[in-house]
Amino acid sequence: MIQETRRVLKNIGKINPESIDDAIRAGAYDGLKKALLVQPADVINELMGADLHGRGGAGFPAGMKQKFVSESCMHCPQRYVVVNADEGEPGTFKDRIIMEQDPHLYLEGTIIAAYAVQASKGFIYIRGEYHDSIRKTRVAIKDAYKKGLLGKNILGSGFDCDIEVKLGAGSYLCGEELTMLESLEGKRGNPRIKPPFPAEKGAFGLPTLVNNVETLANIPFIIAHGKAEFRKLGTEGSPGTKIFTISGRVNRAGHYEVPMGVTLQELIHLAGGMSEGKPFKAALLGGAAGTFVDASMLEEQMSYDNLKKKGATLGSGAVIIFAEGDPVVEALHNCLRFFRHESCGKCVPCRTGTAQLVKSAEQLRNGHPDKKALLEQMIRESTIMAATSLCPLGQSPVLPLKSAASYFSRELTEIK
Ligand SMILES: Cc1cc2nc3c(=O)[nH]c(=O)nc-3n(C[C@H](O)[C@H](O)[C@H](O)COP(=O)(O)O)c2cc1C
Ligand code: SF4
Repeated sequence: MIQETRRVLKNIGKINPESIDDAIRAGAYDGLKKALLVQPADVINELMGADLHGRGGAGFPAGMKQKFVSESCMHCPQRYVVVNADEGEPGTFKDRIIMEQDPHLYLEGTIIAAYAVQASKGFIYIRGEYHDSIRKTRVAIKDAYKKGLLGKNILGSGFDCDIEVKLGAGSYLCGEELTMLESLEGKRGNPRIKPPFPAEKGAFGLPTLVNNVETLANIPFIIAHGKAEFRKLGTEGSPGTKIFTISGRVNRAGHYEVPMGVTLQELIHLAGGMSEGKPFKAALLGGAAGTFVDASMLEEQMSYDNLKKKGATLGSGAVIIFAEGDPVVEALHNCLRFFRHESCGKCVPCRTGTAQLVKSAEQLRNGHPDKKALLEQMIRESTIMAATSLCPLGQSPVLPLKSAASYFSRELTEIK
């Protein structure tokens, strides 16, 4: 049976997160020292070879993103690195663990990433409710300055970088990278139209690398030990480990770091099995903006490429488990209420569509003379929303809706 393989979480519970000396004794900043001895392009090549995929949700290759930023606007006076630490996806709490328990790990990854794209300024945009993460990150930054790991001429390399913490504005949408940049600039958290992408025109209109906390926390290992060592775990198409956050009907809800490619069944086992010994019914993979699956997916590999092939999502690594007897319509209703609440209201299809979908879900739950037609209508409406909404939030409700309909159509449409 599968065991946890802690690479990113290797220091959790073993070091004092507020002691830089503890972190350094455990190997912190070895990757940075190595990175500073080579050219920025060499760092990017190593990451591209490692094929690290972004852990924030979309799974975009991290090395390629760095390459785009490093080659963008050569005459621009400044480039930025922005850490997405907003962690708003329901069921996801992996970045919090890193920030609270080993803040130097992702700080080191951020400085390496800044060096790779030659950004002399970084921002860490942390969810405002994450008080401990904010405090510990600030302590880590202060101590890193004292040790010459931040500021002017880092470790005598000639590279300068300053990093500061910015507080999230309390909205799910502010975790979306372009909306986050608006908020970072002190504006209301409204989305921007893509393109241009942040690599081209990001914070303050300048080239910006945006990465998730877990993505950055993987970088020190890759630079310190090399791409080949990194690729020893995981699958060919999704190398490395992933932190899954498992909640719902399991005995030990929590965070588990395992090689990519673990099966859903193995994850449930790691989390202590189904609670009260109830049979498994469904899982919601990737949070509210994710997909429902049924027991036919229990033996499928949890990796970006395999789940995509199967029409499912890995997303941020949130796994919410449902047992026999849990009504899928309730879970679906919750997801849709979440989107209605978080819609910024800027564009009509999402503003009215999210409200309409909640009403329809209520009719589906409370009784409707033709549930089959109602469900089909909901799918049509969410598909139109996905095609016409301004930003990815309006494109999300179709995911849980379509997947719930495809796996649980009988249950959702049966007349009681
Ligand atoms: C509505 C919405 C909310 C998001 N929230 C987060 C978040 O809280 N944290 C995060 O890292 N990415 C979030 N993302 C994804 C980011 O837009 C972006 O893809 C990610 O920060 C890129 O980092 P990565 O390449 O390292 O994964 C969200 C996306 C959307 C559409
Ligand atoms: S899709 Fe929704 S969240 Fe995005 S801009 Fe439109 S109303 Fe706002």
